[in-house]
Amino acid sequence: MAAIGVFDSGHGGLTVLRALTEAAPERPFVFLGDHAAAPYGARTDEEIYALTLRGVERLFDQGCRLVVLACNTAAAVALRRLQRTWLPGRHPGCNVLGVLVPMVEAITRVPWMVEEPPPERPHEPRTVGIFATVPTVASGSYPREIGKRAPDVRVVQQACPELVALIEKGAPDAVLEPHVARYAAGLMETLGGVPPDTVVLGCTHYPLVADLFARALPPGVEVLCQPTLVARSLENYLERHPRFLPAPMPPGETLRFLTTGDAVRVGELAGRFFGRRTPFEGVGP
Ligand code: DGL
Repeated sequence: MAAIGVFDSGHGGLTVLRALTEAAPERPFVFLGDHAAAPYGARTDEEIYALTLRGVERLFDQGCRLVVLACNTAAAVALRRLQRTWLPGRHPGCNVLGVLVPMVEAITRVPWMVEEPPPERPHEPRTVGIFATVPTVASGSYPREIGKRAPDVRVVQQACPELVALIEKGAPDAVLEPHVARYAAGLMETLGGVPPDTVVLGCTHYPLVADLFARALPPGVEVLCQPTLVARSLENYLERHPRFLPAPMPPGETLRFLTTGDAVRVGELAGRFFGRRTPFEGVGP
């Protein structure tokens, strides 16, 4: 049985892949980073859709039958359209999952399939801040999906336009810190200075600078860990859909790393983010 595909515009998806491998070290994964086209945050919705479709298709070509879009931007802009208009006709029997569902479930404490507030309301945070790319914010996906299930929760979004490009370049903390501080201050200003209960780092690149966000936000704000929640959610999905479960692989043979960018350069930087060697193979832009 083939590996599970994990797709991102660039390095960010490695934060999710890391959590997925920690949850199931014997499980094979193929990671594809579209480094040649990153950042997606600077692109139109049509471009994001076309690039995401091509990335998923490349992972299907590698024999994957289940792909996780480890990218909020691709998931927010392209996932629903892929699932409705492309997947059933072109790749029946395959599936694509995103990273928003586990976050919405964690915030509202309502299962995704429940699309309206349940009569018995679970205890949920009152104010949630979302840090994300410009297209994710513009898609309105987080406020819409949280609002359906938990209408009392106030959702405030803050776009962080420069962050992904800087992280992709390997910018040091000294360069990143003032940007993160400005975005945190922007969120606090929208909230009139009252700290949110919870924030979502709604871009898979942002956990790479999670400590900078934690420092820039008032103490006591809960920062939800998207990679951990996505990993838990995938385990749950695989239990319910065992046909997507790949056969276990011996240690050292579980991971493949593909990139549309410069494999050597990407591999060097990715190793720093992933915490171990990441020998990338180039697949052409
Ligand atoms: N990791 C992507 C996300 O979660 C980054 C998008 C980008 O390339 O701008 O949104």
